[in-house]
Amino acid sequence: MSEMNQTWVLRQRPVGDIKEGDLDLVETPLEPLKDGEVRAKTVYLSLDPTNRIWMSDVDAYLPPVGIGDAMRGGGLAVVVESKHDGFQQGDVVNTGLGTWTMYPTLQGEGLAKLPILPGVPLTAYMGPLGATGMTAYFGLMDIGKPQAGETVVVSAAAGAVGSMVGQIAKIQGCRAVGIAGSDDKCKWLTETAGFDAAINYKTEDVGAALDKHCPDGIDVNFENVGGQIMDEVIARLNDFSRMPLCGLISTYNATDPVPGPYNFSNLLMRRTLMKGFIVIDYFPRFPEGIQQMAQWLMEGKLKFETDVVKGFENAPSSLSRLFEGKNLGKLVVECSPPPA
Ligand SMILES: NC(=O)c1ccc[n+]([C@@H]2O[C@H](COP(=O)([O-])OP(=O)(O)OC[C@H]3O[C@@H](n4cnc5c(N)ncnc54)[C@H](OP(=O)(O)O)[C@@H]3O)[C@@H](O)[C@H]2O)c1
Repeated sequence: MSEMNQTWVLRQRPVGDIKEGDLDLVETPLEPLKDGEVRAKTVYLSLDPTNRIWMSDVDAYLPPVGIGDAMRGGGLAVVVESKHDGFQQGDVVNTGLGTWTMYPTLQGEGLAKLPILPGVPLTAYMGPLGATGMTAYFGLMDIGKPQAGETVVVSAAAGAVGSMVGQIAKIQGCRAVGIAGSDDKCKWLTETAGFDAAINYKTEDVGAALDKHCPDGIDVNFENVGGQIMDEVIARLNDFSRMPLCGLISTYNATDPVPGPYNFSNLLMRRTLMKGFIVIDYFPRFPEGIQQMAQWLMEGKLKFETDVVKGFENAPSSLSRLFEGKNLGKLVVECSPPPA
């Protein structure tokens, strides 16, 4: 193989938004494969808010990416060369917690080959059947424990995780209310994804809109954003409500300390269960979650969108789409054409 490999490397820790020069695209020759290894070509790279967390020197759930190290991230790749009996050219694999690399060299042992389902596009494995789908499924079902007739509120509702949360809530017989940042997103939530109501936090008074759309209060708050939106929701929680704490995207670019929720005491008064979770803790249960999500998908009960940016070279600059709210559904970078 004569092609060079390309890898995005972290050069310096971003301050606030990611800037040009924080990461470098580095070319290296491809090394010959060793026995047991598989070489793949990246098709889709997953861009996630957590990429930004991993660039910062903070005490998070995984160590930060080191300066000079390949950026951490995963996606889907197609096998181009194999020295492992279990894989052959053309197999599609999930690179898991890999790196932003065009040609990842992967250990065949323990590598996940994608079970291609008829009629299901590859992008579904980045969304409902991927890590963000599992985040929505386990966060809501395991921590939120939605009961039929209850009201579930989700922030960043038109994003990869949020869009699944509201739809799963509907499948459970709940009232689903989403909070999102544009009229188009709100329209998609109610007209396509089947949410009962959607609130545009950029143009509406979120508190008043929650009062209107959640007349019986809020039983589950699936928290993706933090800040003022979270505070308005916390103020309206019901007794014995649940709050899966999934993400706090409004804080990831912060350069100053972030205050806690002003309505914190309501968690006590309402006896709310708030539980932070990280989806990697659910790895052992992924088969269960994927099976259930795949069944709902094939039954037509889950709608999903993918925001596709083309070109591996655009990975770092495209991450800002998540922080500017430009994506509808799961943001991915298409690095090479998906297999037919
Ligand atoms: N715990 C876990 O294991 C886990 C796993 C995956 C994701 N997450 C978390 O889940 C959340 C959603 O992640 P995702 O991958 O599904 O991303 P996403 O929702 O597809 O994209 C992020 C969305 O957040 C909204 N947003 C950005 N900045 C905001 C702000 N300051 N205030 C309000 N909304 C803002 C934007 O939509 P608008 O147009 O609506 O503003 C944007 O589209 C993130 O907090 C992420 O860290 C956690």
